[in-house]
Amino acid sequence: MFRHRRRVKTTVRWLLAGAAILLSGSVHAAETTQVSVTIRADQPGDVINPNVYGQFAEHLGAGIYEGIWVGEKSQIPNTNGYRNDVVDALRNLHVPVVRWPGGCFADEYHWRDGIGPREKRPVKVNTHWGGVAETNAFGTHEFMAFAEMIGTKVYISGNVGSGSVQEMADWLEYLTSDTVSTLANERRKNGRDQPWDVHFFGIGNETWGCGGNMTPEWYANLFRQYATYVKAPQGKRPKIVASGGHDEHTVWADVLTKNIRRDMDAISHHYYTIPSGVWKKKGNSIGFPEGEWIQTLERALLIDKYIADNVAVLDRNDPQGKVAFYVDEWGTWYDPEPGREPGFLWQHNTMRDALVAGLHFNVFHRHAKRVQMTNIAQMVNVLQAMILTDGPKMALTPTYHAFHLYIPFQGATFLPTEIRTPNYSLGSRSIPQVSVSAARDTTGALQLALVNADPHREAVVSADVVGAQVKEARGRVLAAPAMDARNTVDQPQAVTPVKISGRREGGKLVLRLPPMSVSVVAIQ
Ligand code: AHR
Repeated sequence: MFRHRRRVKTTVRWLLAGAAILLSGSVHAAETTQVSVTIRADQPGDVINPNVYGQFAEHLGAGIYEGIWVGEKSQIPNTNGYRNDVVDALRNLHVPVVRWPGGCFADEYHWRDGIGPREKRPVKVNTHWGGVAETNAFGTHEFMAFAEMIGTKVYISGNVGSGSVQEMADWLEYLTSDTVSTLANERRKNGRDQPWDVHFFGIGNETWGCGGNMTPEWYANLFRQYATYVKAPQGKRPKIVASGGHDEHTVWADVLTKNIRRDMDAISHHYYTIPSGVWKKKGNSIGFPEGEWIQTLERALLIDKYIADNVAVLDRNDPQGKVAFYVDEWGTWYDPEPGREPGFLWQHNTMRDALVAGLHFNVFHRHAKRVQMTNIAQMVNVLQAMILTDGPKMALTPTYHAFHLYIPFQGATFLPTEIRTPNYSLGSRSIPQVSVSAARDTTGALQLALVNADPHREAVVSADVVGAQVKEARGRVLAAPAMDARNTVDQPQAVTPVKISGRREGGKLVLRLPPMSVSVVAIQ
């Protein structure tokens, strides 16, 4: 009952804030806070690598089969087996890079199972994820064709845990060789004449856990061995990614940078936002109390420290900055949805997830120098997905919209900001109410991203831009009346971005942010 009343109250506030968006500064919601931001347009920083907006698609639940691949004979509208609705939505998202085939699945994947006539491919058991049959219908050719369809670069994770050096070396030769080698000819026989470009190649995944339960010292030696034989034609060598640590750990970055002298272009790191911080009882994806809202956002913000601590290690051991830091799995992870196979990691995606995404992006931008790729887990139907499908229907999630809002930040030049914001607090927890990021995009326009974490109070932001003239700001905001507002296949437009604008007042740019919102505006 109490929660219901609170929700009605929040809805009214949100409507007021919505009016404020439209009227740009002329309506004041009941509870408003003042935030001031200084944008240093005169102090350009590092370029935000577009790959910071990368994705991850694993053979897990309905992530590949049903989510992307339905087969040519499916009733679901498809082109050569790929569902049209999902492909179109991903094209519109400007996905820069996709990591595949795992995850934990990668260290059990034998690439030869996924080539040649589909009816002859072996059926395996996906032991990590639900023990279901893996038909191998989606293999190397299907993934590479999918990447071409959505216009993305590829990041392939090789099998260290249960594979061999030879198997990995052969896979890369099969993919990239332009010679008349038997493997290159086998690829041609299987329908692909030209070699593919493989942009990134991972030597194993989570080798501290599902990828082999190794120590960093042991893995460092294995990496050296595998990387020696992973070969590609001149000028076509992918960037080679070492399997690194997770969460607060820095030991992997330390040991790898001390023990690997060549071939390592990046170290991978994983961090999942779990509301409770406890794997056994993580928290629900919908119907959660406000305590779990703030706790989730607080935990999402930990990524800042985890990156900073690892970057400090890299700066010490690799002062020339040769090794990048890839957060190649991140996102929310909730308790399994009742009635669904727990091993499929299907979860609802709400306004809370959109805020988690926005907070991560703002952090990633700050670390643009070393953080040159991240991959949200995962693209479709798994964990913090962009898209949820149900038979022939599909919904774009609030996370999809957050990614879409931030497209101008791909390849933009980071601009430092200073912010004075009140905190949003509940009980003993407290986080900054507003988080900000600014950059100059590739067209030269100034972009400003703002996340208002408070579910009750709008924020009036006055922005001072040093080093650029300011007239107005126009962009889009994602906001909703409830913390767990979401899109479903039957109500796919419940949470969608609307226009927002700000205007010059007393030399500053003034913008009103609705409660619990993510905004991106271009400043002119
Ligand atoms: O994304 C789900 C799983 O989380 C991945 O397979 C694994 O790498 C991580 O533990």
